[in-house]
Amino acid sequence: MQILFNFPLKSLNSFGFDVKAKEFVSVTNTQDLLEAVQYAIDHDMPIHVLGGGSNILIHEDLLGLTIHLQLLGKSMVSQSATHTLIDVCAGENWHDFVAWTLDNDLPGLENLALIPGTCGAAPIQNIGAYGLEVGNWIDSVEVLDLEQLDQEQAWHTLSRQDCDFTYRNSIFKKYPNRYIVTQVRFAIPRQWRANLSYAELANYFLHRPQPSAHDVFAAVCEIRSRKLPDPLVLGNAGSFFHNPQVSEATYLQLLEQFPQLVAYPQGIVDGQKLFKLAAGWLIDQCGFKGFRLGNVGVYEKQALVLVNHGGGSGKDILRLANLIKEKIHAVYGVDLTQEPIMLPP
Ligand code: EPU
Repeated sequence: MQILFNFPLKSLNSFGFDVKAKEFVSVTNTQDLLEAVQYAIDHDMPIHVLGGGSNILIHEDLLGLTIHLQLLGKSMVSQSATHTLIDVCAGENWHDFVAWTLDNDLPGLENLALIPGTCGAAPIQNIGAYGLEVGNWIDSVEVLDLEQLDQEQAWHTLSRQDCDFTYRNSIFKKYPNRYIVTQVRFAIPRQWRANLSYAELANYFLHRPQPSAHDVFAAVCEIRSRKLPDPLVLGNAGSFFHNPQVSEATYLQLLEQFPQLVAYPQGIVDGQKLFKLAAGWLIDQCGFKGFRLGNVGVYEKQALVLVNHGGGSGKDILRLANLIKEKIHAVYGVDLTQEPIMLPP
C-alpha cells in the first residue's frame, strides 16, 4: 500500500475541478482496503472513498485519506430456471460492465448504458435511466462496515431489502460514512423483454418493432450522447438535481398555473398519490438553459446538468445551484435536492 501526498484529483472527478487529496491511496484488493482504513483510523483521519468520481462535488481539497477503489473482476456465478447471478467488483467501469453482460448474452441492464462511473457507485445512488433503476436487478451488495471494524461481521452482505432502494436513494446515502461497497451481485431475469417504458425510447422504436437488447443499448447510447455532455469534454456530474416528488394537490395546483408542466405519476406512497416533476423543465422554463456564471453554467441542451466550462470550482457550482434553487422555489414553491454527493460532506 503506497500513500501519496497532495495528490491531484482533477482527472478523478468528472467536473474536472482542480483539487487535491492530502493523502491518497489506490487499492486493488480487499486486504489493502482494510489496511488503508486501519491507517486512517490509527492517524485519526477522515476517509473519503472515490470510485469513478462522476457523482461527487469536491468543493475543497480533501483532508484525511482518500481511498481510490480499484477492485476489479466480474463473473457469472450461477443460473437458475429464472435468474442469472453475476458478481462484479466495485472498481469495474459501469458502462463496460453493461457491454460485457450483453456480449455474454445476459441482457437486462442495457437501459443503463453509458452512465459514467463504477459498479460500486451504482447501488449508492441507485442509478436509473430510461425506465430502469439498478436496484431492481440487484440481489445483494458486499460491504465493509466501518462501524463494525473490530467485529467479525466487518465484511458482510446486504440484501436488496437491506439496501432500501428508492428513487436515487439507498441505505448508503442514508448512512454516508458507514459502508464501503466492494462488490455487487446482480440477479437478472432470464426471460428478457425490451423495456421501452420511457416515452423517448418507445418513440425511438416506433417504426422498428421488436428491438434486440443490443438495439436498445445502441439507442440509449445515442440518446444520451445527444442530450448529455461527455465529462471528458465538458466537466459535469449528470443531473445535478433530483426530479422532485410532490403530492397530487401540489401537482394539480401547479398544472393549473403551468399547463405545459412535465410530470409523471408515481403511484401511491403511504396512502398518498405522488407525482414526479421534471426538474429540467422547471429550470429550463426559468430561462437557465445555457446560462453562465463565470466559469460554470447550465448545459445548453439539458437544464438539469450543471457544467464546468474550465477553471471552475465546486464553490462556483454551489453558487450557481443556489441561484437556481432560489428561483425555482420563488416561481413554483418547489425545493430542489442536489444529486451529487458533497466531498468533504
Ligand atoms: N426537459 C426540458 N428542458 C430541459 C430538460 C428536460 O423541458 O432542459 C423536459 C424534457 O423535454 C422531458 C422531461 O423534461 O419532457 C424529462 O427530461 P429527460 O428525459 O431528459 O429526463 P430527466 O428527467 O431530465 C432523468 C434522469 C437522468 C436520466 C433520464 C432518462 C434524474 C435526476 N435524472 O432526467 O439521469 O438519464 O431521466 O431516464 O432522475 C443522472 O441522474 O445523472 C441522469 C442523467
